[in-house]
Amino acid sequence: MINVVDEIKSRLDVIDVISEYISIKQVGTSYKAICPFHQEKTPSFFVSPEKEIWHCFGCDKGGSIFDFLMEIEGIEFPEALRILAQKAGVKVEQSDRRAISQKTKLLDICRLSASFYHKVLDDSSVAANARQYLKDRGLNQEIITEFELGFVPDKWDTLLKFLIKRGYQEKDIEAAGLIVKSSKPSRAGQQSFYDRFRHRLIFPINDLYGQVIGFTSRVLPGTKVEQASAKYINTPETLIYNKSRVLYGLDKAKLEIKKQDKVILVEGNMDVIAAHQVGDKNIVCTSGTALTENQIKILQRYTQNIILAFDVDLAGQSATQRSIDLLLQQGLNIRILDLPQGKDPDECIRKNPKLWKKALKKPKLIMDYYFSLAFEDKDLKNITQKKEIAKKLLPIIAKLGDPVDQGLWLKKLSDELSISEVFLRDAIKKVKLPKIGLKGAEVLIKNRASQEQQAGERFLALILQYPEIGQNFLNRLILDMFVIDQVQTIIREIKDYYSKNQKIDLKKIKKGFKNEAMAGYLDHLLFLVEREFKNYSLKEIEQELNQLFYTLKKRYLNKKMIKLVEELKKEEKQDDKQKIEKITQNIIKLSREIID
Ligand code: UTP
Ligand code: MN
Repeated sequence: MINVVDEIKSRLDVIDVISEYISIKQVGTSYKAICPFHQEKTPSFFVSPEKEIWHCFGCDKGGSIFDFLMEIEGIEFPEALRILAQKAGVKVEQSDRRAISQKTKLLDICRLSASFYHKVLDDSSVAANARQYLKDRGLNQEIITEFELGFVPDKWDTLLKFLIKRGYQEKDIEAAGLIVKSSKPSRAGQQSFYDRFRHRLIFPINDLYGQVIGFTSRVLPGTKVEQASAKYINTPETLIYNKSRVLYGLDKAKLEIKKQDKVILVEGNMDVIAAHQVGDKNIVCTSGTALTENQIKILQRYTQNIILAFDVDLAGQSATQRSIDLLLQQGLNIRILDLPQGKDPDECIRKNPKLWKKALKKPKLIMDYYFSLAFEDKDLKNITQKKEIAKKLLPIIAKLGDPVDQGLWLKKLSDELSISEVFLRDAIKKVKLPKIGLKGAEVLIKNRASQEQQAGERFLALILQYPEIGQNFLNRLILDMFVIDQVQTIIREIKDYYSKNQKIDLKKIKKGFKNEAMAGYLDHLLFLVEREFKNYSLKEIEQELNQLFYTLKKRYLNKKMIKLVEELKKEEKQDDKQKIEKITQNIIKLSREIID
């Protein structure tokens, strides 16, 4: 036993394992992170690669990679062992296991079943129609293998028989959700079971590590079951399958999500697979249900940027709308793919992949998208139609958590409808607001602060590493765009040096800092760039810089706006007409700048 654990530890890098969950920074020779196990602002979570351990000086938790996994995933030792063994490519013998937990047994059953279903699809004659169906839907063999798609024929006990032969017991197969207890006992008086999935295409559902934890299944068109049951049937909740935590495709998408710093969220399994086939791998789906807080938290480990490819409408009652509300509350950046209405991503990719790629290049701001929906086919000379537009958009604007955002979109609505903002403000007060709740607001503020810091650091580091591209931004930089003091100081130095010498010289700038901590900080930033942008082309670096610049500028302007609005509130109490007028003018000027 000891040997297996040691073997796994020696094969896995503690930094790699932990950074799948949190971002670790190297500072000098040590590795630090914000502790995921308690609330903190400055990092007190340390990792030692030599000793292969971690420790948090804030909450005093610590240990090996096994302890980390148990803590963060809320699992027991056997599961942690299993996950890490697989990651390390170490085989754990049955007799080696400290305890074969029930969970481990269910995982074994699911793994074996997935292989079985896949093999049937691959080469059994009963699966000829299924193979043809997938081919007609445009899926190639490679993608079928990658997603380990499967098939089960039209019989009551295909899987049950196979698993029994392999030595598994009915009660465990049932616990894995794969068979169902029949309502009447067999003639011999025993309880009898039958396969949950029959005459269906099978899609294994994996956890983050690629372990099969459940299945979803689709009817084949033209079969008997098509009329008799739902299009998709899924594994019920089991010890290992928790619907509210699973995102289909995440095991295959996570690295790409991190790399691109954005995730595409779709509704259907077929959408995920189709996008993968055309090379868009940063994609996951919710399997047709509303997103849960758990799922959002998991996504936030990888990115704050979500691109939705949902069928969005203005009615606002759907699972989609609940998902969007929750995402907005959690402070994520949401954009929407503008696909032809009524078409899901899979259909769009199949019929016109160029259209899909084009939409992906320019996802719309969610509010812009709502506006275009509301204004579609409306005659702005017609007063009733104008009222309809306002009626649709006001509740959506009212829901925005950020007062600055609210002000901006209200202004846009007022401009486009030519209705005074005063009336719209009155109207919006009458809209009933859903509660965001204190927790939501806290998360929102926390995320924003750390995102802003990160964006500033990344921007600075990229300028230093790629001075030829970076220098084009210098004139437009405002020091207050950067929230970290050290970053401001370094930017000031770079600007000074540039105005005298017309270039950025990292070595000279570094020498300028007598302070050792500052030089160390510079090294840390460069390390960050090297690690994150290793495979980027110069063009991609430029795009990244542009995007970061835009984010930083927008946040800076937003903050300025918040200050102005506060001033305005104060002056309104004093009732100084002139001052109020001046501040109002400034607000209008600033809001134009923000919209640009
Ligand atoms: P859709 O009905 O949009 O299916 O449901 P789809 O993904 O476009 O599938 P195809 O293209 O017809 O094959 C979206 C998702 O909702 C879940 C499934 O996960 C599906 O992918 N769903 C749908 C169910 O769980 N049960 C159902 O009966 C239908
Ligand atoms: Mn579809």
